[in-house]
Amino acid sequence: MPSPILPGGTTRRLGGLEETRPVYGGSGSAYFSGMELNAKAPILLETLIDDPGEVEGIFARNAPYTPLGGWFRPDRDGDEAKSPMWFQKDWVHADFSAQGSDLFFHHPRMLAAAREFYSAEVVVPRTIYVNLMAAISECGPAHTDNPTFRGRDRTNTPMMLLRAMFWSGLFERWYIRQATSVWWMNDVEGGGFRYWPDGPHAAPSRHRQPMANTALLGDNHGMFHQVEPVGPFEGGTLGVPASSELAPLADGSGDWAVTHSGRALFRAPFSDYRASVLWKADIYASEAERVELAEDRLSLAELCRIFNRDLAERDAALRVDLSRIQDPSLPSELAEFYPEATPLAAGKSMFDPN
Ligand SMILES: [Fe+2]
Repeated sequence: MPSPILPGGTTRRLGGLEETRPVYGGSGSAYFSGMELNAKAPILLETLIDDPGEVEGIFARNAPYTPLGGWFRPDRDGDEAKSPMWFQKDWVHADFSAQGSDLFFHHPRMLAAAREFYSAEVVVPRTIYVNLMAAISECGPAHTDNPTFRGRDRTNTPMMLLRAMFWSGLFERWYIRQATSVWWMNDVEGGGFRYWPDGPHAAPSRHRQPMANTALLGDNHGMFHQVEPVGPFEGGTLGVPASSELAPLADGSGDWAVTHSGRALFRAPFSDYRASVLWKADIYASEAERVELAEDRLSLAELCRIFNRDLAERDAALRVDLSRIQDPSLPSELAEFYPEATPLAAGKSMFDPN
């Protein structure tokens, strides 16, 4: 039986209490250590899908795709052609499952890789999200994925507050360990994947073309990563309206097009788009651990208490109380004490100010 929790976990101050924290996965832990990330190298998987010809049909049945919004694009609005051609869709979330997504959701080799990466017995697939990208001559943002905690997630806690919780290292007891795989469908121009397996302060690694039918399985919540520029590069980054859509054309050409108000702004065969499938699964050392942890949920009141105890120890004037949980300025105030790391040698992002 694999034993993912190694003896001799580290001891640190947690909200004023001495607690022993387990060490996961042996040397090069995938688990974060306070504000110092210490990810380990993801597992590369190749020729995952027996019939890659199936893939375009699954993407087509779930079209159209819309430009990225949310965290990276809080200001997107209107019909101005300002969104890069980074299209996305949720395929599996909560009780929704897109037709054909099972090919990815329950892939036996991916489940086995997740068990291997974490030396864990229980892998519970949770979500699938897909991206389609083209003609973006800058990188995507270098980032770690948004964390979730038992009792606290995007449905009840602002995302930036969840990130501050992660970077504080104060809420590890409730942190939901998740494996992420990113798998790629096509060989395209550019579109490599830059990642920081030795932590944000060490040089990054790259996964480059040919990438079709390969995937990297690892800890994208603890490991910084970044999409590299995606071709075609001739016209630079093409901007499209936030209300445009990407879908296959019905003209017999086989092309997929970005359309807005009935007009095609860009068209290319599916194989020219950087199509990726992001899969996430919860990880538990054992079924007993999964059952035991399920009831241990973090309340808002406890969240405030833990932050405040630590802030008091730091002689900080800042306090977190229930009336400020939704306050958009709170996470940036917390970031003064619990800053996110900045990864070394990150490429310029399409969302950086010029
Ligand atoms: Fe990510």
